[in-house]
Amino acid sequence: MPDMDNFKEASAFGVGTPQETVGFPLKGCGSLDWGMKSRLARIFDPKDGRSLMLACDHGFIMGPTGGVERIDLSIVPLLSHADCLMCTRGVLRALIPATSRIPVCLRSDAGTSVLTELNDNVVIDPEDAIRLNASAMAVMVAVGDANFEGKTVANLYHTVDIGQRYGIPVMGVTAVGKQMTRDARYFRLATRICAENGANIVKTYYTEGFETVVAACPVPIVIAGGKKIPERDALELAYKAINDGAAGVDMGRNVFQSEHPAAMIQAVRAVIHDGLKPDQAYQLYQDLSK
Ligand code: 5RP
Repeated sequence: MPDMDNFKEASAFGVGTPQETVGFPLKGCGSLDWGMKSRLARIFDPKDGRSLMLACDHGFIMGPTGGVERIDLSIVPLLSHADCLMCTRGVLRALIPATSRIPVCLRSDAGTSVLTELNDNVVIDPEDAIRLNASAMAVMVAVGDANFEGKTVANLYHTVDIGQRYGIPVMGVTAVGKQMTRDARYFRLATRICAENGANIVKTYYTEGFETVVAACPVPIVIAGGKKIPERDALELAYKAINDGAAGVDMGRNVFQSEHPAAMIQAVRAVIHDGLKPDQAYQLYQDLSK
């Protein structure tokens, strides 16, 4: 029991100052529980509702592909420029310093690799995501994959059930199999299916007509960068996505496979948070590369 003597008399009631009802900057997230919102606010800067997520989960299907051979050397030095890191639990435990304080979007499914057939995934034990203090869990959803659509949608809604129980947001990641058309019609379908099944964030790809993909998806969308393209083009991709309503990027290869990854991530950051246009961001990239 606290000492009851000499308590300060209560008087700071702020009568006349109405209690503010603070909103939430992410679309579709206003009625989530506090823990869920708190985790989302670690990933998305509450000032602008945007996020620069750095993806380095490629190894779980591709092995040590270019740029992620040594995550301690290539990715860890970039963490201070990112709002969130997307990675697997193996990499997190082995290579990411717990002192980095970066929020983690944990890759929470695994299964087949590039050597066999993609998308035959199961989800990890969600208790591990809790142990790892994950700020979000990411699972891939293969809409349109005749073999694994049902299984991967089930992975998503199972993960959402767990996420709701423990207050951990779930990011649905739309897969792009070889047989899937990469157009706005497909991405509208895939992203909407993720959201309807409870994803709190959806990761997808930029495409012509992207503004309709964003409009039809009731929760925030972040885009993947896709395969490595010239830096100026990648910055334009990020700019167009943000301009069309994306809440951020979850970019991997176009950052860590860049000639100058530290310069590139800072230029992408400037597009997302400072409103730089592609030419301005490319100039920044060049200046920082010197
Ligand atoms: C796909 C993923 C990957 O992490 C992501 O797409 C990779 O990012 P990038 O395309 O920018 O290299 O989530 O399952």
